[in-house]
Amino acid sequence: MSVLKFDYSMSGFSPEYLSRFASTAASADKELANGTFNNTDWLDYPVKIEQTVLLDILNTAEEIKRKCDALIVIGIGGSYMGAKAGLTMIKDSFNTKEGCPEVYFAGWNMSSVYHAEVMKAVKNKDVCVIVISKSGTTIETAAAFKIFRYFLFEKYGDDYVNRIYVVTSSDSGALHEEAVQMGYKAFALPENIGGRYSVLTPSGLLPLACAGIDVLAMMKGAKAAYDDINSLPYEQNDCYKYAVLRRLMDLKGKKIEVFAGWEPRLEYFTDWLIQLFGESEGKDGKGLYPAQALFTRDLHSFGQFLQQGTPQTFETMFSIATPTLDISYEGDKSYAGTNSLIEQAVSIAHSESNTPVMRFTFDNPGAEAFGYGVYFFMRACAISCVLLGVNPFDQPGVEAYKAIVKKLSE
Ligand code: PA5
Repeated sequence: MSVLKFDYSMSGFSPEYLSRFASTAASADKELANGTFNNTDWLDYPVKIEQTVLLDILNTAEEIKRKCDALIVIGIGGSYMGAKAGLTMIKDSFNTKEGCPEVYFAGWNMSSVYHAEVMKAVKNKDVCVIVISKSGTTIETAAAFKIFRYFLFEKYGDDYVNRIYVVTSSDSGALHEEAVQMGYKAFALPENIGGRYSVLTPSGLLPLACAGIDVLAMMKGAKAAYDDINSLPYEQNDCYKYAVLRRLMDLKGKKIEVFAGWEPRLEYFTDWLIQLFGESEGKDGKGLYPAQALFTRDLHSFGQFLQQGTPQTFETMFSIATPTLDISYEGDKSYAGTNSLIEQAVSIAHSESNTPVMRFTFDNPGAEAFGYGVYFFMRACAISCVLLGVNPFDQPGVEAYKAIVKKLSE
């Protein structure tokens, strides 16, 4: 039984209509694997990842757990959002687990105040740093690494090198060169996998393992998604159908996809989806605008707009069938039950007001479900991009801004 269920009964498209696109979806998927694109090694990475790599990740995570009670994970975009999504979804809302370091993310912004606050928060703790950058040259990551490297040096002297862990290209870039020169423990980011498709590589797995997340279960979930997508007939292939439905929404003039979570734990999962879809699809003047909501909070802010405002929006909702705990707030009235009831009511109200609704339900917020979801949406996103006629694996706009920053800083 799949850990992720899909319901598109309120999308405005019937199964009969959707069945017309079976071969379109299959050929788009085939095109992904047939060598037209670069950066496709993530497609079969859940079955290809070497046991030695997994073992190295697990052993290193144990070492990091022993050494520190605060772990600074430095990276931006695809080099951080997946780990943040997994940490928030799988652990509790405050990211605590006995025997594991607290995780602080850095380098995902250029705020001096934020970084000073992180340093203040960890000043009296034992600290390790994981720095993640495929290119090794991203300014936000490089700047944060410099300040935390100095922080470690001041605190531990020459032993600081043993507190730095690197995930980067195996053969090029400034970070790779520094890791070789200084002898930092380094993990290779597979050359043919881009940032936002790298959650299931050391980029996502190492920080998550340090936080006590069962990364083997995560990879098991990813493999289950891989098997399902490769083997299920179109009628049951939710990945294919979701990819097609997004394009049908686009053609219908529904240009804004709102990823709406019904649990605070899903906030960064929907954040990761925004990056995945936005950076993969938004190019050549095309693509759906990816937006985000958290319910029920946002029903009391822009929910009104979603329901009756500019009619270009559709919602892709995310909930968790079995929350890790439930509480009752009045006799036998449960929070979880009322949350589901409101979800049902809102789905009806929004879809009846010309805001189509699609719903994904995770069976639970565990590592296996997270791994399944990550692989499922990476594949759906890539298929959707092929259907749109754009390259899912480049980001020319991002590269252009990075080049201008480099030029202006010279
Ligand atoms: O998905 C992507 O490729 C980007 O979001 C990158 O991950 C991001 O720009 C960071 O790049 P790097 O890992 O090279 O520092």
